[in-house]
Parts: sequence; C-alpha cells; structure tokens
Amino acid sequence: DYQERLEEFEARIARGEKIEPGDWMPAEYRRQLIRMISQHAHSEWVGMLPEGAWIPRAPSLRRKLILLAKVQDEAGHGQYLYHAAETLGVTREEMVEALLSGKAKYSNIFNYPTLTWADVGIIGWLVDGMAIKNQTMLAQCSYGPYSRAMVRICAEETFHHKQGKEAVLLYAKGSPKQRRMVQDALNRWWWPTLMMAGPHDTDSPHTPLLLRWGIKTKTNDQIRQEFLDEHVPELLEAGLVPPDPELRYDEKTGHWVHGPIPWDEFWKVINGEGPMNRHRLLARQRAHEEGRWVREALEAYSKRRLAQAAD
Ligand code: ACO
Repeated sequence: DYQERLEEFEARIARGEKIEPGDWMPAEYRRQLIRMISQHAHSEWVGMLPEGAWIPRAPSLRRKLILLAKVQDEAGHGQYLYHAAETLGVTREEMVEALLSGKAKYSNIFNYPTLTWADVGIIGWLVDGMAIKNQTMLAQCSYGPYSRAMVRICAEETFHHKQGKEAVLLYAKGSPKQRRMVQDALNRWWWPTLMMAGPHDTDSPHTPLLLRWGIKTKTNDQIRQEFLDEHVPELLEAGLVPPDPELRYDEKTGHWVHGPIPWDEFWKVINGEGPMNRHRLLARQRAHEEGRWVREALEAYSKRRLAQAAD
C-alpha cells in the first residue's frame, strides 16, 4: 500500500540510491521535479538572450568565439534539462507552452538588461558562480536523470565562470574607464545575483520537502553563503566593491555577512514585472514562431523516413 511504498522510497533515498524514471515515486515528488527541472530548462533558454545580445558587439574575435560557445552551451543545457523533465511524463510542448504563455517561472536574473560589455564578464563570474553552487548541489539530487544532467552542465559552467573571472580581473586592472565600467556592472548585478539562490529559508515554502526527498541537498541560504564566502574576498582583492554598505566578515563564524536583500524587487521580477520580462518573453515567442518551419520540416522528414522503412 501507499505507506509501505513511501517508506521504501524514502529508505532508498536515505541509502543514497538514485530514483530512476520507471521507479515508483510519490506524485508530489514527480510534480516538484517537473516544476524545478522545467523552470531550470526555461532559465537556460531565456538566459541565452541577455548575453546573446553582445555576440555581434564583442570587442575581439577571441571574446566573440568564447561568448558564442557559452551561449551555445546554454542551448544544450536547456536540451538536457527538457529531456530530464520528459522522463517524468511531461511533454516538451507542454513545458514550452507554459513558458511562452508567461505561466512558467524562470530565474529572476535573466530579466535585467546587459548595458555594457562588462556585464558579460560579471554574468560569467558571478551569475554562473552562483549557478555552479546551486547546480553542484543538484548534481547530488536523488533523481538520476537530473543529477546526471547536472554533472555535465557543471563541467561546462566551470568554463563559463573562468572566462568571466578572467575578463573581469583584466578590466579591473585596466584603464580608469574599464574599472568604472566593471564596478558599475557589479553594482547592478550584485543584488539580483544574491536573489538567484531563492528567498531566505524562512520564506521558502518548498525547501523542507525538497530536502526530505533529496531533491535539494542544501538550502537557499546555505548556497548563498557559499557563494559569498568564495566571491567576496576575490572581488575585494581585485579592487571591486560589492554595493552593500553592511557587508562584513564575521570573525566568529568565519563567514561573510550581507545587508538586507531587496526582496520586493525579487517578488516583482519573478512574477513578471521585472525590467526585461516582457522583452524576454517576446523574444522567446518570436524565436518559437521563426523556428516553426524547422520543426515542421523535421517532422515531415521523419514521417517520410518511417514510411520508406515500412515499405
Ligand atoms: N528565480 C525565479 N523564481 C524563483 C527563484 C529565482 N531565483 N528562486 C525561487 N523562486 C520561486 C520558486 O520557483 C517558487 O515559485 P513556485 O512555487 O511558483 O514554483 C518560489 O519562488 C518559492 O521559492 P522556494 O520555495 O525557495 O523554491 P525552491 O525550493 O524550488 O528553490 C531554487 C528555488 C533554488 C531556484 C530551486 O528551484 C532550484 O534549485 N531550481 C533549479 C535550478 C535553477 O532553476 N536554476 C536557475 C538558475 S541557474 C541557470 O540557469 C544558469
């Protein structure tokens, strides 16, 4: 019966076994995974837009090649993630429809504009830095297909992180104009990046169940702390200052402590009212329409191949 199955399911998770697509799982486990993995996949695809805008304007061929490769990786990450979600019984069409109709959430961070070239460096170093903390945790997740997708994604994200850091450190040592540009980018991306880890644990309704079933293995505040402890000293060493007058190092705990996060802005952004939400959605809708003939051609081709094989 249900109780016995649930106990066996939870015991498997406690033993560190992975849950695989054909295995029994509570309906709520499936629902939570579909929610998270599809939001994650949408984030990858929408995440191509802010940086993609700079591909034609990259300052050198080397930077252009790096950025092209990075944006292409994000398309691939979306693919692995949509596939991982499909193993739970949801279709690609349903997920894409939820995104295009504005029903689905995706990461807050991609609803801000990329105003200068320095934004590309800061996104690579800080936004991908936060994404790595979150995704390294998810690589330990109890659902096999999600955790395996994360292993590959994290390897690629590590490259994204390094290229961003390399660019930012170079500009931080550059001309006064370059230093101002990179500090300005840090000022604009700092708080949205801290918000990426999600609301404080006290305001995070999903965390307790996700932890219990090993979908998350760390809380939002733990991930945010790991991010701060790694990045704050490196930023300061580069001569860059996060825009938080209350930021301080706590000798007793050995951790960096941040001031209050502007959560009102976060809730607005994730509910569709951020500076670029409408723009991002329109861009995705247009890309979907413009790609329609490709999907139709692929379908017609595969039907013809099947018919030929049957002859
Ligand atoms: N952006 C948008 N929405 C968010 C964010 C965020 N940064 N953080 C939390 N939310 C939403 C949640 O989706 C949830 O909304 P819902 O109930 O409508 O689905 C609500 O805020 C409450 O948050 P939590 O209870 O804390 O949600 P959860 O426990 O799922 O934690 C988190 C949020 C950490 C983002 C988790 O869902 C997760 O790890 N997701 C997968 C990873 C991911 O999507 N990363 C995206 C950025 S990485 C990248 O794309 C490069």
